[in-house]
Amino acid sequence: MQQPELSFIEEIARSAGNILRENYGKQIEVQHKSTADLVTAADKASEKFLIETILTKFPKHAINAEESGSHSGEANHQWFIDPLDGTINFAHGVPFFSVSVGYAYDGQLELGVIYDPLLDECFTAQRGKGAWLNKHRIQVSKTGKLINCLLVTGFRHYLRDTPQNNFNNFARFSRITQGVRRLGSAALDLAYVAAGRLDGFWEVALHQWDVAAGALLVQEAGGIVTRMYGEPDFMAEPVSILAANPHIYPTMLAILEQEQDKQG
Ligand code: IPD
Ligand code: CA
Ligand code: CA
Repeated sequence: MQQPELSFIEEIARSAGNILRENYGKQIEVQHKSTADLVTAADKASEKFLIETILTKFPKHAINAEESGSHSGEANHQWFIDPLDGTINFAHGVPFFSVSVGYAYDGQLELGVIYDPLLDECFTAQRGKGAWLNKHRIQVSKTGKLINCLLVTGFRHYLRDTPQNNFNNFARFSRITQGVRRLGSAALDLAYVAAGRLDGFWEVALHQWDVAAGALLVQEAGGIVTRMYGEPDFMAEPVSILAANPHIYPTMLAILEQEQDKQG
C-alpha cells in the first residue's frame, strides 16, 4: 500500500497547529487524567482532525495516538501522533508547545514533522534525505565540550517519588554545562537538538508519540539517538531516550551510566 509523502504530513501538522493556535490563551476547560497529566479540548480537537485526515487518505494504516490510543490497521504502516505536546504549558499560557506526527514503515521511522504554531516553525525529516526547519536544512551542533553545551530534559510527574526521578542527572549535568533547560515539550526539545539550538536531550518514561518525529529529526540532522543507557531500540515502551550531537553523546552516556550505578 501507498506510503505518505512528507508534504502531506507537513500540511496536516500545520492545520492541527492552527487548531491549537486558535484555542491558545482562551478560557479553556482542563481535564485531569491524573494530578499533573492534563488534557484540553484542543488536544482532542487536534487529534480528531489528524486521525480523520490520515484515515481518509490511508484507511488501512495503524495509528498510535496519545488521547485515543491504538487504532489497529496494517502493522507495516504505523503512525505516531502527539496532537499537543506541552499541554501543561498550553494550559498555563506558556508559549512552548507543538504538534508531533511520525510515520514508520516496516518498523523503521521514515517521516517526521514537529510544528510550533506560535513561531510558525515547522521541523521536518525524511529518512536518508535530511532534516529541515521551514525548508532550510538543519544540523545538530558541533560543540564538543560539555562546559560549552546547553542541554534539555524533562520530568515525569509520577516518577517524582521514585529512584527514576531524574533529579540526580539534572543536578550533575547542571554543574558541568552552561545549563539544563526544562522546557516542557519533548518533541520540541528534540527538534531544537536537531536544529543545533540545544546540544543534547534525555528523558525517562516517555511514549512513542513524544519522540517518533523528533528522534528521526535528530538522526537526520547528524545526531545520535539511543535509549538512555545506550541500547538501540529507543522506541520500546516505556521510552527512555538520549539524543545528542555525536561529539558529546559518549560523555553524556557515560555520565548517565555513572548516575544509574550510584542508585544501586
Ligand atoms: C509531555 C511533554 C513534556 C515531558 C512529559 C510529556 P504532553 O507531553 O513532552 O516535555 O516532560 O514527560 O508527558 O503530556 O504535554 O503531551
Ligand atoms: Ca507528549
Ligand atoms: Ca500530548
